[in-house]
Amino acid sequence: MKQQRILLIIGGGIAAYKCLDLVRRLREQGMSVRAVMTRAAAEFVTPLSVAALTNERVFTDLFDLNDEHEIGHIRLSREADLLIVAPATADLLAKMAGGHADDLASTLLLATDKPVLVAPAMNPRMWLHPATRRNAAQLKADGIRFVGPNAGEMAEPGEAGPGRLAEVPEIIAAAKRILAENRAEGSVAALPTGAPLAGRHVLVTSGPTHEPIDPVRFIANRSSGKQGHAVAEAAARFGARVTLVTGPVATADPAGVDVVRVETAEEMLRAVRENLPADIAVFAAAVADWRAADAPREKIKKSGGKRALELVENPDILAAVAKSGSHRPALVIGFAAETGDVVAYGTKKRKAKGADWIVANDVSPGTGVLGGDRNTVHLVTGSGVEDWPPMSKEDVALRLMLHAAGELRRNTAAAE
Ligand code: CTP
Repeated sequence: MKQQRILLIIGGGIAAYKCLDLVRRLREQGMSVRAVMTRAAAEFVTPLSVAALTNERVFTDLFDLNDEHEIGHIRLSREADLLIVAPATADLLAKMAGGHADDLASTLLLATDKPVLVAPAMNPRMWLHPATRRNAAQLKADGIRFVGPNAGEMAEPGEAGPGRLAEVPEIIAAAKRILAENRAEGSVAALPTGAPLAGRHVLVTSGPTHEPIDPVRFIANRSSGKQGHAVAEAAARFGARVTLVTGPVATADPAGVDVVRVETAEEMLRAVRENLPADIAVFAAAVADWRAADAPREKIKKSGGKRALELVENPDILAAVAKSGSHRPALVIGFAAETGDVVAYGTKKRKAKGADWIVANDVSPGTGVLGGDRNTVHLVTGSGVEDWPPMSKEDVALRLMLHAAGELRRNTAAAE
């Protein structure tokens, strides 16, 4: 098997010395390690000792990349299979979350197209500060993986709580898990960088819908919008004009996409209709199946004892578009969120709703799909079922849009 290459970014902090052991253990596992140190890290461990252990030159600042040994920062960040940031300081996490690129470490982290694992280490108060919580949540939403921090005594006397760097074996186990997932996916790096969807309009629905019960309460579900947003982003990356009709989500708007925000299923159907025609329509939204039959203008008061809530069915947006005559997109793709018999239900839904393809996935609580970053899907088409290996939602989206581009190309060629 090919040797796995780690780019280790060492942040400044007392825990930086543990990186020496980390390097040694990673190399014992047969991995090669190249290290980058922030200016602050060099106050805690010397670049010379890191160089001796990695058996490679250590990079310490952007400036380094201009000398005769130049390897550009893009190359440096992409020649690795995995980037590990350890210790990841509060400052480094903030820079990553904000997309800063004012030194070598942050520039590499912004330029990379490889998975990133961060092992935070800082004072517990800094880790628990709302700013750090916000940054960590943003990074997780961006697909950055975390290991630790662990709770325990800190180097400063009298300080205890979450903030200790994860133990070296824990960091290695997390790294190996990510590398194994990468191999299973065959890596997105193999995808084309061209614009196979140039000139096409792709319409995507995403997120949950909120159905009011009264002015302050609503019916909703656990959809995060991550999968639908990733589809919109992938279509834009492949050159399409993209309209994303989304229910209320915390997921950031994808770059280069027109976003239409809605609350209810009826608003979503209206927005979808208003934005047709499209070449491809992808229905990734978890539309609420029901809405309250009657949502009063005033807050409903407690009246003691039981209370019934009458529900009526919402319109099925996918079925409405798939069965619409002249405005039907050339390729209509639905999702099937199931908790058992995934392929069987997916196949049934394809027929019942008139979709061309159904992306069927298991959303049972144990899978972590709802709200999580990964997905295991089965693509149900008219000619059979493809079982895709587990992969990130971004990769599901990229593959799906690549398949879709191929399908449109074949349809166009067949029509000519
Ligand atoms: N869908 C839709 N409008 C609805 C319900 C679902 O457009 N009112 C779409 C979803 O976006 C998805 C597909 O239909 O692409 C299947 O959604 P899913 O929730 O799996 O199925 P339901 O039709 O709601 O069936 P059930 O809940 O009974 O499994």
